[in-house]
Amino acid sequence: MAPSGTTSWELLLPAARAPARQRGRALQSALRDAVRSGRLAAGTRLPSSRELALDLGVSRGLVTEAYEQLTAEGYLRSARGSGTWVGDAARAGAPAARDLAPRGPGARVDFRPGTPDLSLFPRAAWGAAQRTVLARLPHSGLGYPDPRGLPELRTALAALLTRRRGVVADPEQLVVCSGVAQAMTLLGFALHGRGLRTLGVEDPGSPGHGPLFQAAGLGMTPVPLDGEGLAMEPLYRSGVRAVSTSPAHQFPTGIAYSARRRVELLEWARSVDGLIVEDDYDGDFRYDRAPVGALQGLDPERVAYTGSVSKSLAPGLRLGWLLVPRDLVDEVVERKRTLDMGHPALDQALLAEFVRGGGYDRHLRRCQRAYRERRDTLVRALAESFPGTGVSGIAAGLHIIARLPDRYGPEARFAAAARRAGVIVRWLSAHRLVPDGDPGLRLVLGYAHLAPSEILRGVGLLARETDGPGAGGGTGDSGAGQAPPGSGEGRGDAS
Ligand SMILES: Cc1ncc(COP(=O)(O)O)c(C=O)c1O
Repeated sequence: MAPSGTTSWELLLPAARAPARQRGRALQSALRDAVRSGRLAAGTRLPSSRELALDLGVSRGLVTEAYEQLTAEGYLRSARGSGTWVGDAARAGAPAARDLAPRGPGARVDFRPGTPDLSLFPRAAWGAAQRTVLARLPHSGLGYPDPRGLPELRTALAALLTRRRGVVADPEQLVVCSGVAQAMTLLGFALHGRGLRTLGVEDPGSPGHGPLFQAAGLGMTPVPLDGEGLAMEPLYRSGVRAVSTSPAHQFPTGIAYSARRRVELLEWARSVDGLIVEDDYDGDFRYDRAPVGALQGLDPERVAYTGSVSKSLAPGLRLGWLLVPRDLVDEVVERKRTLDMGHPALDQALLAEFVRGGGYDRHLRRCQRAYRERRDTLVRALAESFPGTGVSGIAAGLHIIARLPDRYGPEARFAAAARRAGVIVRWLSAHRLVPDGDPGLRLVLGYAHLAPSEILRGVGLLARETDGPGAGGGTGDSGAGQAPPGSGEGRGDAS
């Protein structure tokens, strides 16, 4: 009965079955929604009120009333004697919200680093903590929070970070923020406010930090690394007075700064009256020994320390922390206040409960076991499928650096093979601000988010597409001169 031949008036049936007193409104509302959403396109002819009433099993008066109401609102048009149509005043189809979350293209296996295993998120324990918090929270707890964060969370985090990471943590100097990203933004503005116009960054380093500092008005000065951490001579030469670092597990090279380099870095900061920003993004995960303590513990007035739950729990929680040297606290807190008036109170209360109740430690232990196994699986699979591969960096975090023997290169050829295999890999060269001219095949491979079976599948797919074990275009190179897997070629584990 619909003129288009495709419209089914069944879409109005649920409204027609509404309780008698609500039926009229329900019918109007269903018709309005159908026009708005585009299910009833402009120009569609509606059945006569008698036909529709019969079809829906409602009184004709209800249909007439609905037609009149929607005509008055502009959704329908009618002309005496020639029926009722859908008008064209309504926007065709309510726009659906687009999802711009940074997800990769569909792949069979995605080795890009940075994400923990989100399926391990402790939903039950988190839910229990949420119920506890809601039951206990006084009404006043729903008011604007202290822009630094809820006192109970700052206290809980200070204790946690002191215990786990060896920081010097005064809760009065701790600011709860939306991850390391916001910590960088807060510091960027505070440093800019003090007259700084550029900041040193590790090269290679995290691609995410630069734009945050730039948004605060700071330029970036790349500072190269050597086997022990930031190279000191270029740092002195650079003239910067603040530098962003990841000493516990440099991202992405995976080295831990040597004890000597940590001391040298602090000496540099004192000599230029400067600041070291310490990004402790994955310091909780170390598989071969206890994690190295944070640099901040050595000089809390020269180091701003930041971390988040993005690697330990889930990046979508957007929860992190920043420990600020005493003389920077006011500027940072004022910026936090003007940015967002403080972090959401319920989320903070929940994390405080989760940390205090031991849930955070339990979750980390569980992840630590799973990730160690995955790292071992990846290293073994690379050794079998790409003999001669060297794995560098300390046994920590969520990714490794793998140097494949040159016979699998050059990079463009391997990248094409990976594309054909449907496997996404990230090149170390993509993290460099200044190209170093090294033609070596160095991959940054994330493993924590992949089940062991996916890791094996991904390496297998890559090996097949690049000709498998011992292959390499018949060069006869069997990997002589390459470091064996896990031997720590360029390991930099000088901590
Ligand atoms: C080096 C580094 N630091 C920090 C983070 C975490 O940022 P956030 O805490 O804002 O999620 C990441 C995430 O990928 C990272 O790679």
